[in-house]
Amino acid sequence: MVDLRTQYHALKKDIDSALEEVLEQTAFIFGPNVHAFEKEVAAYLNTGHAISCASGTDALHLALRALDIKPGDEVITPSFTFAATAEAICYVGATPVFVDIDPVTLNLDPEFVASRITNKTRAIIAVHLFGLPADVESIKTLTGNKNISIIEDCAQSFGALMDNKQTGSLGDIACFSFFPSKNLGAYGDGGLVSTNSDQLADQVKLLRNHGSPRRYQHDIIGYNSRLDEIQAAILRIKLQHIDEYNQNRRNIATRYSQAFAGTEIITPHVNNDSQHVFHQYTLLFKNREKIKQTLEDNNIASAIYYPSGLHQQTAFAKYVSNTSLPVTERVSTQCLSLPMFPEMTVNQIERVIDTVKSVIE
Ligand SMILES: Cc1ncc(COP(=O)(O)O)c(C=O)c1O
Repeated sequence: MVDLRTQYHALKKDIDSALEEVLEQTAFIFGPNVHAFEKEVAAYLNTGHAISCASGTDALHLALRALDIKPGDEVITPSFTFAATAEAICYVGATPVFVDIDPVTLNLDPEFVASRITNKTRAIIAVHLFGLPADVESIKTLTGNKNISIIEDCAQSFGALMDNKQTGSLGDIACFSFFPSKNLGAYGDGGLVSTNSDQLADQVKLLRNHGSPRRYQHDIIGYNSRLDEIQAAILRIKLQHIDEYNQNRRNIATRYSQAFAGTEIITPHVNNDSQHVFHQYTLLFKNREKIKQTLEDNNIASAIYYPSGLHQQTAFAKYVSNTSLPVTERVSTQCLSLPMFPEMTVNQIERVIDTVKSVIE
């Protein structure tokens, strides 16, 4: 699905020398690269604060804790997302409320969100799935002046824009993942929280480091959730290339979609208001197993994100009673993600296209 080695080889000189410098300096925790990376990301996103942490899952957990979401509270989330989105809600003892997605964008449908808001709703997690910005503005109008926070899950959307604004700057607080295969990927785990709120930023800073504003002073119970210096050094180098990587992804997606136009394949939605970053190129097709098998027979990877909604998973069973989310349930039987990474060659792209087309024609 992704070829991380080709990217490493293109950046090898810069990465190897940055790593050597980190190893020589030995400031492995909260070193200069971590501080510089946070500043650079805040400038890139145009947010007041960017606070790094150990993973995207932790970023969600820290955000929910910073918002003081607790048992008895409800948090609305799409069911068609990675498990971490909802796990984080459970970590703080709150109740995930799963809602259905829009069949075109595959993101949260504001109408379904509206129907599930209660007086216990404390937050809504808008996941920018596959790199397409969710409709945060419409969700904001729903929450009006109720005390409901909007958390963006930007794990798959680094660099994506909505109305020329970065995802990560649209809600109250946002969470990023630097898992290696993400658009901005580290060489291990990493994550980040962005916000314009000084108060939330202070809380996240405390929480990620044992509730400690200074050494051996502990104001609240926190965690060990820090981005390490080695990952920060790597991420700083890749951050300089992220727009070019995302543009390459868009170009590949455009080529795929052109090739599949006029067939029964439903290609990913794009629109003029937003800039998709194609973390995944996910098509919908009734007989996706046939495409998957044919790709596999030709040694081409493909993946199913996601084979079921979270409301159908055992782990979340206790939060779900008779929940039926028809769009999620249908899409999860039809979705198939094709290989997608910025360094794909024309030959690789065309081979994927030819193989997919051999099934549908
Ligand atoms: C939508 C979404 N949310 C959260 C996460 C969790 O990120 P991490 O793997 O860095 O913990 C991921 C990715 O893995 C994701 O895709």
